[in-house]
Amino acid sequence: MSDIFLIGATGGIGHRLVPMLIERGHSVTGLHRKPDQAEPLRQVGVMPALGDIMELSADDLEMMLQGSDVTVFSAGAAGSGWDRTTAIDGQGPLKLIEAARRTGLKRVYLVSVFPDAGRRRDTSDGFEHYMEQKKMADVALTESGLDYVILRPGTLQHEDGDGRVKAGHAIPYGNVARGNVASLLAELIDTPSVRREIIEVTDGDMPVEDAVKALERR
Ligand SMILES: NC(=O)c1ccc[n+]([C@@H]2O[C@H](COP(=O)([O-])OP(=O)(O)OC[C@H]3O[C@@H](n4cnc5c(N)ncnc54)[C@H](OP(=O)(O)O)[C@@H]3O)[C@@H](O)[C@H]2O)c1
Repeated sequence: MSDIFLIGATGGIGHRLVPMLIERGHSVTGLHRKPDQAEPLRQVGVMPALGDIMELSADDLEMMLQGSDVTVFSAGAAGSGWDRTTAIDGQGPLKLIEAARRTGLKRVYLVSVFPDAGRRRDTSDGFEHYMEQKKMADVALTESGLDYVILRPGTLQHEDGDGRVKAGHAIPYGNVARGNVASLLAELIDTPSVRREIIEVTDGDMPVEDAVKALERR
């Protein structure tokens, strides 16, 4: 069982991932930026850790990561502005990677974005910036020497999902329920042999267990 440090514990993916990890016997510490989020996190079994990823340094994160074997980054600025996108989606993972390297934490799971997200859309400069920041974080993680899985979901939907996905190195673009992304993350965390992989995911027909077994066989 792992000690998991989750950044984005209160988010659409994160809050669905929490009970799955706890059900599987993991300990979860969840970063949260508002003091009143601590008690609800505690109530679902998460050890709350107060901090804003925009303000935390790699040194701060290094202290917070002590004792964790796995970290998940599923935070995001969610279109709240250029500088917040830089600080959260871009610099956030970079600081986490630096901290993980220093603590010797081995596995990092990063929720990134499907490269096709902007196709057939009239994208704004802000959206292009978001895509650049996400890509920069992916590049840094692949070059970090850490074990990682970079997950690239299609367009996120608010549903819990049915636990069935299409997952692979290159798949057609589509929607995906946030709950299905959480289910896939939980299964991947319990399958450490799937590592140093970039995985695209949409809703699909395959139960997440089978999807991860198929990735493992490859
Ligand atoms: N939208 C899409 O279609 C799409 C597609 C592919 C990938 N993604 C990526 O998927 C990831 C997760 O999506 P989601 O829907 O779960 O996101 P979400 O519901 O917007 O949740 C974002 C999480 O990040 C936290 N957060 C935001 N700013 C923070 C800060 N400064 N310090 C600490 N935590 C902070 C939020 O905390 P609070 O609860 O305090 O706000 C929340 O827990 C993001 O990285 C996003 O870029 C999105």
